[in-house]
Amino acid sequence: MKAYVCREFGPVDSHKVEEIEDPRAEPGMVVVDVKAAGVSFPDVLIVQGKYQFQPPFPFSPGGEIAGVISEIGEGVDNWKVGDRVIAMVGNGGIAEKTSAFATTLMPLPESMDFKDGAAFPLNYGTTYYALKQRGELKKGETLLVTGAGGGVGTTAIEIGKAMGARVIAAASNQEKLDIAKRLGADEVVNYGDGELKEKVKELTDGLGADVIYDAVGGDIFLQCMRCVNWKGRVLVIGFPAGIPKVPTNLALLKGCSIVGVFWGSFTGREPEENAKNFEELFALHAEGKLKPEITKSYSLDEAVEAIKSLEDRTATGKVVIEI
Ligand SMILES: NC(=O)c1ccc[n+]([C@@H]2O[C@H](COP(=O)([O-])OP(=O)(O)OC[C@H]3O[C@@H](n4cnc5c(N)ncnc54)[C@H](OP(=O)(O)O)[C@@H]3O)[C@@H](O)[C@H]2O)c1
Repeated sequence: MKAYVCREFGPVDSHKVEEIEDPRAEPGMVVVDVKAAGVSFPDVLIVQGKYQFQPPFPFSPGGEIAGVISEIGEGVDNWKVGDRVIAMVGNGGIAEKTSAFATTLMPLPESMDFKDGAAFPLNYGTTYYALKQRGELKKGETLLVTGAGGGVGTTAIEIGKAMGARVIAAASNQEKLDIAKRLGADEVVNYGDGELKEKVKELTDGLGADVIYDAVGGDIFLQCMRCVNWKGRVLVIGFPAGIPKVPTNLALLKGCSIVGVFWGSFTGREPEENAKNFEELFALHAEGKLKPEITKSYSLDEAVEAIKSLEDRTATGKVVIEI
């Protein structure tokens, strides 16, 4: 089969799409013929050895896929060949076939095609967990989303609106803000000029946002700490702009919480809660309230280009590889 393969850590374009052996269905696992793979920021990091997990070589990136089961391993009796599934595979998804533990599979809902299925689990799973369980976002509260034109950011606008919040979407350029507005953001803020804090304060009568979904990190996180409301919750989602060093006096002055969000760990530690979240998310998708913002699809041969678009910050919404 063909796959984008990482044989040693290096820049995204130092790895190639090549022919490798098909995966086998080990006990407890299935093989899935991948129809679409979601691309996300961890793919940029994992091939360079900069992610929190470093798989053994050789490996393919790609943590989420949608496809059709083509082989069943020993001990798997609740799935069959031909089932349409979504799988969170950790890595190995940017390939024609991948193996997945049966416990990580979800049936692809009727309302979804393969592209939506591949675009769905990581970003919506993370955001719903972040806003519901970690941020305890309430109807009528103000939610600030940074990196609002990117993969997880676009889902935070949609889910924030579905939960009844007033959403302020913040991003670095007009193209990303136009997407945010189209997805339902009430207000948009361009932080390309570095003025996030002042603009959010202006939009909230000087109070600041109740919940902040920060998918950017770096200096943007520090600005978020300066425009959070009293008793606000600042959600730590990711760090494409770097891991900031936080002056903790800001948390004291604001009486706010800095709340870590690690969805992957949540799925393993609290599988029932995660399954309930997905029931609710799939229902919202079926009602048309959620729709992955897939702005560009690539072929497997274009995997480098697809991953690089996240690295160089040109990607908008969700990027998918169709196989
Ligand atoms: N906590 C969790 O469980 C969890 C789950 C999934 C993803 N994540 C993390 O969430 C973050 C976003 O992931 P994603 O897949 O949504 O990525 P993405 O689509 O590339 O979006 C990230 C956004 O970050 C902004 N950004 C600022 N500085 C950047 C830089 N130097 N390089 C690249 N982007 C930069 C960009 O928006 P502007 O240009 O508008 O600033 C970009 O749209 C990543 O750190 C990822 O690891 C965390």
